[in-house]
Amino acid sequence: MTPPLPLFVVGIGADGWDGLSPAARRELTAAEVLLGGARQLALLPAECAGERVPWPSPLRPAVPGLLAAHAGRRVCVLASGDPMFYGIGRTLTEVMAEEAAVRRPLRVLPHPSSVAYACARLGWAVEDTEVVTLVGRPAENLVRVLHDGMRVLVLSAGAGTPGEVAALLRERGFGPTRMRVLEQLGGAHEQLVEGAATGWDAPAGDPLNVVALDCVREPDAPRLPVVPGLPDDAYEHDGQLTKRHVRAATLAALAPAPGELLWDVGGGSGSIAVEWLRAHRSCRAIGVERDADRAARIGHNARALGVPALRVVHGAAPAALAGLPTPDAVFIGGGLTAPGLLDACWDALPPGGRIVANTVTLESEALLTQWYRRHGGELVRLAVAHAVPVGGFTGWRQAMPVTQWSAVKPPRPGAPEPGPQDTAAPSRSQDPS
Ligand SMILES: C[S@@+](CC[C@H](N)C(=O)[O-])C[C@H]1O[C@@H](n2cnc3c(N)ncnc32)[C@H](O)[C@@H]1O
Repeated sequence: MTPPLPLFVVGIGADGWDGLSPAARRELTAAEVLLGGARQLALLPAECAGERVPWPSPLRPAVPGLLAAHAGRRVCVLASGDPMFYGIGRTLTEVMAEEAAVRRPLRVLPHPSSVAYACARLGWAVEDTEVVTLVGRPAENLVRVLHDGMRVLVLSAGAGTPGEVAALLRERGFGPTRMRVLEQLGGAHEQLVEGAATGWDAPAGDPLNVVALDCVREPDAPRLPVVPGLPDDAYEHDGQLTKRHVRAATLAALAPAPGELLWDVGGGSGSIAVEWLRAHRSCRAIGVERDADRAARIGHNARALGVPALRVVHGAAPAALAGLPTPDAVFIGGGLTAPGLLDACWDALPPGGRIVANTVTLESEALLTQWYRRHGGELVRLAVAHAVPVGGFTGWRQAMPVTQWSAVKPPRPGAPEPGPQDTAAPSRSQDPS
């Protein structure tokens, strides 16, 4: 059987054909099929004689069909800038990983990304620059990276993004931030528009732009640190809030890692899920809350604190847990005595998954003691006291102590230990596909 032809992916910039390397030009000229956005296809000269197929919209569902339709032909995909940076390269690798029938080796020829261009123009080190994309995502995603002195590049969704970013910065107490909108980077019509977020009134410009931010916080604006234990007043709540010191200890026990999914059962104000999501941009979380007002408040807090991707399920656990994707960790902050809730959470966890449950009642504590005896883990009591004025003196005011059980689910009984055949040996290859 002849091996499948590679699929070439060529990055192209606003400078079009002139900015391409000889290798990229060679592939584009030799291609029988050219797939790409209409704007990118229009940048190619007539000598690229392959059949031009513009991407349909929506793109993702159409990709497997398009790859299948042109199997066996020399296909070159055009991408904007660096195809592997928030680009079509990722979509193609994901589709090919899912669908064996359209799989073929991928050869990517990158062009500088908009971030590389922007950093070059600004004299910013790429590694010191935080990048946030607002393409297809809400502007609130920006909040998580707003820190005094931070350099941020925002990948814009279009001409309206700079105005939207300015409004968000003003609203979050970052009005003095210097904004620089870099349009048509690398092209003949490259332009820079500059101003502070306060008073930003530039008319919508070119849709191809990135927004550079030198973040400046107003002195009285809330300061949101990067580690768990945000101030309690960072949250809107009705008293149903895991307070700061206990929350920090709870997040330490939950131990989030990139890409992991948390169920926050009895979400209350959503603080545990919010701080889980703030740990890393790839973390995912679902908050389950039976009270409608609180469920709505979880969404509000998530947007206010920069993690609008928090999924809120309004309903009572354990019934509301049915059908949710498998979690890596479960936190139970409410509903512990609901029949079957602890069992449902434990059963949903894969081997190695973590469970953490907090309570202030003796009834729930009795239950956690049983589970601790059965499954081990750690049972701890968190007693926080705050110093308060007592007449002309100072004394301790004790908060209700919180009992916390945390455990890791063991491997399934009888599951084989990983053998040498499961250990991937290092290898060297020209072809990563
Ligand atoms: C103490 S609060 C949790 C606080 C939360 N960790 C936070 O920081 O905002 C407990 C919450 O659990 C909710 N709850 C109680 N039983 C529940 C159940 N069976 N299913 C879903 N939510 C429940 C309550 O409505 C309440 O909002």
